Amino acid sequence: MTAFDTIITGGTIATAADTFQADIAIQGGRIVAIGEGLSGAAHTIDARDRLVLPGGIDSHVHISQPSGPRVVMADDFNSATRAAAFGGNTTVMPFCLQQSGQSLRDALTWYHGLADGNCHVDVSFHLIVTDPTPQVLGQELPALAAEGYTSIKLFMTYPGLRLSDRAILDSLAAAKAAGTLVLVHAENDDAIEYLRDTAETAGDVAPKFHASTRPIPVEREATHRAITLAEIVDVPIMIVHVSNREAMEEIDRARRRGRTVFGETCPQYLVLTADDLDRTGFDGAKYVCSPPPRDTDSQAACWEGLERNVFDVFSSDHCPFRYEDPEGKKHPDGLKTFRAIPNGIPGVETRLPILFSEGVNRGRIDLNRFVALTSTNHAKTYGLYPRKGTIAVGSHADIVLWDPQRVQTIRQENLHHGADYTPFEGITVTGWPVLTMVRGQIVCANETMTAERTGQYLRRGRPAGYA
Ligand code: URP
Ligand code: ZN
Ligand code: ZN
Repeated sequence: MTAFDTIITGGTIATAADTFQADIAIQGGRIVAIGEGLSGAAHTIDARDRLVLPGGIDSHVHISQPSGPRVVMADDFNSATRAAAFGGNTTVMPFCLQQSGQSLRDALTWYHGLADGNCHVDVSFHLIVTDPTPQVLGQELPALAAEGYTSIKLFMTYPGLRLSDRAILDSLAAAKAAGTLVLVHAENDDAIEYLRDTAETAGDVAPKFHASTRPIPVEREATHRAITLAEIVDVPIMIVHVSNREAMEEIDRARRRGRTVFGETCPQYLVLTADDLDRTGFDGAKYVCSPPPRDTDSQAACWEGLERNVFDVFSSDHCPFRYEDPEGKKHPDGLKTFRAIPNGIPGVETRLPILFSEGVNRGRIDLNRFVALTSTNHAKTYGLYPRKGTIAVGSHADIVLWDPQRVQTIRQENLHHGADYTPFEGITVTGWPVLTMVRGQIVCANETMTAERTGQYLRRGRPAGYA
């Protein structure tokens, strides 16, 4: 009879706070001891020359989300969470979209039907509220918060999804009463529609006009407005996928006024620019996402925001569509005008390596900040901490072994998502996850899947801002 199920020996553990040498003992899916010279386990994992990190938590992914007529997302829960695991993630947080007229409960029933039993890592949903009726806000939101659905996303853009300022105010007030954290997609939709109409009238329909019709002021103004609406209701808010300095400064300024505003940025705003949407032929469509990638000054600003803690979380906004597919980027309507190209790019598998290589290796952030941005802060923000997001006695044994020396050129052929391309093709990174363990079970190691669909659904506690 052994004392432990598994011991991880000889590695360098990094948390959001510390970096140290120690062994980790695991029993029943949890970490039960951290110390020197641990022994007495059924399995031993040799972690010499490896970093031992809390598993990545990607709190912004879209999976199997209805995306418009004859448009199909490239990932289901099986393929998305497989890619997530190979990318060093142990938890993902997809969005559950409420369609017009639908109850949140019905939307959740549908998503759980897709996800439950099909995931390779643990999962927890945000709700996207598109139809905030009195019933939804007054009855469903508090009931669902009590069941652990403690975050919602609101859109200020996209026809069919966008909410009026009044609907946002009502939703913020309901969220405040329920203890729910509101995530906002901040872009001014009327300004976008005006610019799109102007571009199309001029015959400007190529993919690159997706970027020029969603310029920085569109995002800056909506970010300011979202923060202002939250201030009026006096409620915390999260601004997701911030792409540039001016939007970031709105967060910074609000915090200096004493507001609780959280911020998120993503890999595409660090390593892509609007020039990528101007690639030859139709290739720019591979980079169409909202907000669009900007310019090198915006990249520098996002790095600054990561260094200075303006951004709390670094997520992928994984939203994959196949390129060579009439239900994806080459939708017949999208071939005619950028307006109809499905918005979103894949990235759940490449988020950690890009931030490690470009951030830690280049000295922009340290290893502990890397862990905070990719794991710990997601858990703290969304009510999963300390169950998730750290290496501590009592926490889930969600652990990634990281080879800091491994040089890898990102290639579509090596990835596991359902898309047929990666927008990060050809970027060479140093540092790659080589083993991913969820609740003590090795899900994948050395390019091989070792457990199938053992991911569980996570009920969450109160989010940050409601302590
Ligand atoms: O283009 C993007 N980001 N698509 C995903 C949906 C969203 O707005 O997050
Ligand atoms: Zn969004
Ligand atoms: Zn998104």
